[in-house]
Amino acid sequence: MLEIHLDEHDLDRQLRTDVALGLAATPKWLPPKWFYDARGSELFEEITRLPEYYPTRAERAILTERAAAIARITEAKTLVELGSGSSEKTRLLLDAFIANGTLGAFVPLDVSRTALQEAVDGLTVDYPGLHVRGVVGDMTEHLRHLPEGDNRVVAFLGGTIGNLVPSERTAFLGDLRAVLDEGEWLLLGTDLVKDPAVVVPAYDDAAGVTAEFNRNVLRVVNARLDADFDVEAFEHVALWNPEQEWIEMRLRTRKAQRVRITALDLTVDFAPGEDLRTEISAKFRRPGLERELDRAGFALRHWWTDPQGLFAVTLAQAVR
Ligand code: SAH
Ligand code: TRP
Repeated sequence: MLEIHLDEHDLDRQLRTDVALGLAATPKWLPPKWFYDARGSELFEEITRLPEYYPTRAERAILTERAAAIARITEAKTLVELGSGSSEKTRLLLDAFIANGTLGAFVPLDVSRTALQEAVDGLTVDYPGLHVRGVVGDMTEHLRHLPEGDNRVVAFLGGTIGNLVPSERTAFLGDLRAVLDEGEWLLLGTDLVKDPAVVVPAYDDAAGVTAEFNRNVLRVVNARLDADFDVEAFEHVALWNPEQEWIEMRLRTRKAQRVRITALDLTVDFAPGEDLRTEISAKFRRPGLERELDRAGFALRHWWTDPQGLFAVTLAQAVR
């Protein structure tokens, strides 16, 4: 059973607003949460298995090594997971928390109803003693619907915090801190700054799965808003921005397009070679992240990386 804070009607309304705003802007953009319809969530799972996509494997290695310590330190009674997707790596945490004897409930939250349903179904079978409550919601809007309870740990894995632009990130961390009590925990996965020769292929794989994932956002708009983007005319572009230390994903049309978005009664022109910006994936360094957490009211208690130093998992505690 899922708890729905974001139904098809809400999604439809938000998509209309986002598309109208983003396509009227210069440069044009679309927000990333629209990647994740059923097909988008499947494509993301495929990305996590690509040889070039190191973040999932690196984060899994860290969690494998540290899950027991995380359980011992936090003694969580409730584990909340934001942007939970398949919750596949989270099983490492569930196993450790259960072995520790403290955990009673797991609350995954995601915008993707299909991904969440599948995850909850699997977890309910595999963890019969655990209360699993899936919440369909937007983590930037629905944090106040998190369960009450004491000693909560909020996991936010996969480097997804890097998909928020800096102002959204600040707002998100502040909102999260506001719903937590002093002493509660944030377990945060962040991808780290490294050689662009390693980062870029993770977002532009040889098999073209990431390109398909990126283009999927146009298929979502075509389907939901009765639009006619020529999806195949857009090529996937992944650029490393050295000043901001983030990857920028774009869709670049090879030819001029006049796109009709019937549900909005809107016509949008694309010049040949014009970019549509779709997502950033920011990479972090410890001092910057520690400062951002501190400003939001979280104290960094532990910083764990994989042996190659590709990715970090931070355990931070709500303070003040
Ligand atoms: N945590 C998983 C999945 C990461 S992919 C992992 O580490 O592999 C990002 C996930 O965040 C997707 O499942 C997507 O549906 C979800 N998501 C994206 N934007 C969201 C938002 N605004 N609110 C809630 N979930 C969101
Ligand atoms: N959270 C993932 C990341 O930043 C999301 C992601 C992976 C992604 N590959 C992508 C988003 C390609 C857009 C396009 O690593």
